[in-house]
Formats: sequence, structure tokens, C-alpha cells
Amino acid sequence: MSEGQVRIGVIGAGGIAAVHAAAIAEAGNVVAGTCDVHRERAEVLAAGHPNAVIFDDVEALLADDSIPAVVVALPNCLHSSIAVQALKAGKDVLLEKPMATSIEECDAVLAAMEDAPGLLQLGFVCRHAATTRSAMEAIESGRLGRIYRADATMYRRRGIPGLGGWFTTRSMSGGGVLIDLGPHLVDLLLHLCGRPKVESADCSITSHFGHPPSGYRFTDMWAGPPVMDGPFDVEDGATALLRCEGDLDMTLNMCWASHLPEKVLPDGVTLFGEKGAMHFDIWGDTVIVGTELDDASVDIRRPIKDGENWNTAFRRQHEMFSHNVGTRTAPTSTAAQGREVQCVLDALYRSNEARGSVEVAG
Ligand SMILES: NC(=O)c1ccc[n+]([C@@H]2O[C@H](COP(=O)([O-])OP(=O)(O)OC[C@H]3O[C@@H](n4cnc5c(N)ncnc54)[C@H](O)[C@@H]3O)[C@@H](O)[C@H]2O)c1
Repeated sequence: MSEGQVRIGVIGAGGIAAVHAAAIAEAGNVVAGTCDVHRERAEVLAAGHPNAVIFDDVEALLADDSIPAVVVALPNCLHSSIAVQALKAGKDVLLEKPMATSIEECDAVLAAMEDAPGLLQLGFVCRHAATTRSAMEAIESGRLGRIYRADATMYRRRGIPGLGGWFTTRSMSGGGVLIDLGPHLVDLLLHLCGRPKVESADCSITSHFGHPPSGYRFTDMWAGPPVMDGPFDVEDGATALLRCEGDLDMTLNMCWASHLPEKVLPDGVTLFGEKGAMHFDIWGDTVIVGTELDDASVDIRRPIKDGENWNTAFRRQHEMFSHNVGTRTAPTSTAAQGREVQCVLDALYRSNEARGSVEVAG
């Protein structure tokens, strides 16, 4: 192992854990261990990473003093309790989104951080996308002026993760598409708009694809074959309005499943400012800005750099994590921001129940 490399344990060896493990290696660090209640998944992950020890359980991995840092890539219901355990064991933590399934669970993580030496970085990977970073540069250079409206969309056609498994079981996930894709979209808009306070939320959620009409089997659903008679007590679509301080409105539209052909609408962020407007597809390769120069309307295309693509976002996330670990630098994707996003999600669910606008908790 060369100097500066960080030995990282990956807790959970499911779908996103494999992406983290690859990104850990690409960032020049070492996958030092993994564990999963399905041991065979840990074996598959470890097969691609020769230094990875397979531990019997989370406790055994956390007890290994040669592993200073961990990624928590578990079902949402375990995020806060395992993050607390990891912090108490003295580890630095990269915690997948959502931070937790409730504001109370976020508070438990924040309380554990007060007594722990470790850092905690939230897995808001969309911030590291090349498109987002290009967009941020343009915003910081003043290209848009004051932003008065921000829209974010993620539409999938057959994108219910593990239909019939933990993702679609509320007691394990905390909700459906809103708590799954919502953290990315809410954090992204807050990040790009300078983290304004969200004052109120109004949301409607829908559920159409968990128990489809007969004749539809959805054999090509996301992340493995769907278990059509498995649990599905969550939403698969959401549309929302967030009113923020500073006269800024945000809208969110997302669905896990629909009959919409793929990519007819981009997974996009659109920002409207008083001096310019911007649009980009989060997974795309260009940010387009409309503005006025010398009394004429102009379009400025900002292609992302060669060699960059969506996957480099995970590598960059891990470059930042290992830099923070190595230099003891406070992460910029903070637990406080994770809680802020959770407060917005909480308000969105409450507003759906109330069938109207509700205040966002502080
Ligand atoms: N950042 C992103 O773009 C992104 C993408 C996908 C998933 N995620 C997040 O990552 C997390 C994991 O999602 P996933 O798609 O990898 O799910 P997954 O179901 O594929 O993987 C979770 C793994 O955790 C294991 N597990 C469950 N309980 C455990 C325990 N007590 N100890 C050890 N292992 C245990 C499961 O067996 C499973 O293999 C979720 O919170 C999800 O929101 C983030």
C-alpha cells in the first residue's frame, strides 16, 4: 500500500456498493473489507478487490483497527444506526443518501458526531457530476444573476429499484421515489442556488406501478426481476413545489415508473435567473445557458471536459472523501445538509397527507 492511500470498508455489498468499490480503487484507495447479510454478495465484491477481507458482520468490520473509514451502503432504515455505530467505533463515514428515514434519526447521527473523532460525508454524488460542476462555475461567475426559479426532474420508465424488496417496503425505505431520488434533486437545487432556506412545501405523491392492472408484468424492471407479489406500500411518483426565502420557487417532478419512452425528457435541472437561464441533463455532457450579450439573445454551450462522464462523479466523491480523511478536512457534503434535505422530504410527505402546503421544520 502506498503512502496516502486510505483503507476503506464497504458496509453492504449490493448494487451501489460495487460502484463505490470501483470508485475507491479509481481514486487510488484500497477496498480493505466488506460485509453483507448475503455473504455471497460480499464474496462477489471482494473478488474484484484483492485486499478486501470479508467480515461476518458489521460489528466485526468496525472492530478492525486497520480500517479507518467506511462507506455505508445499506437499506435506508439502517443508515442512521450503522453510521452511529461506525462513528462510535472511531471511523470516518461516507453515508449514502438519504441520510436517514426521519429527522429524529438524523439528530441521532448529529449527536454521535459531537463525541466522535470521525468525519461524516453525505453521499450527495450528483454534486460531483461534471455537468453540475460546470453549471456551478457558470452560476458563481454571475452568469445567471439572481435565480428566481429552479426545476428538477427525474423520470424513469421501468425504474422501480428491486420492486417487491426493501426499496418498496416503507418500514425499510421510509418511502418510495421521493426518499430515493428526492435527496439527489433537493440537494442539487439547494447546492446550485446557494442553500436558501426552504420555507414551505406542497407535494402530491402517486402510486400506480406496484400493483399494476393485469396484463402488465414489468419483467424489465430496474435492478433485477421484480417480485410482483412482494411488498409495495410506497409512492412511485411525486410532484412538488418548494417556496424558499429570497423569492425563489423550486419544483420537483419524479417517477420511478411510467409509460413515457426513455429520454424523451431529460433528467434535468433548469434554473431561471434574472440575467440568464440554464439547463442540463444530470447524466449528460453539456450545460446550456441562455443570456443576453450586446443586446442580443445568445446561447452558450458548455461541454464537459474530455474523459468526464457520469461515472467520474463517484470517483470524484471518493477523491474528496479520502482527501478529507487524510487531511482531517471537514466535508462539504455535511450531516447538517443531510438533515436539511431530510426536513424537506419530511415536509413533502406531510403536505401530501395534508393535501396542501406545510412549513418545513428547522
Ligand atoms: N448515490 C446513488 O446514486 C445511489 C444509487 C443507488 C443506491 N443508493 C443508496 O445506497 C443504499 C443501498 O442501495 P443499493 O441499491 O445498493 O441496495 P441493495 O439492496 O442492492 O444493497 C443493500 C445491501 O445491504 C445488505 N444488507 C442489508 N442489511 C444488512 C446488514 N444488517 N448488514 C450487512 N449488509 C446488509 C443487503 O443484503 C444488500 O446486499 C440505499 O440507501 C440507496 O438509497 C444511492
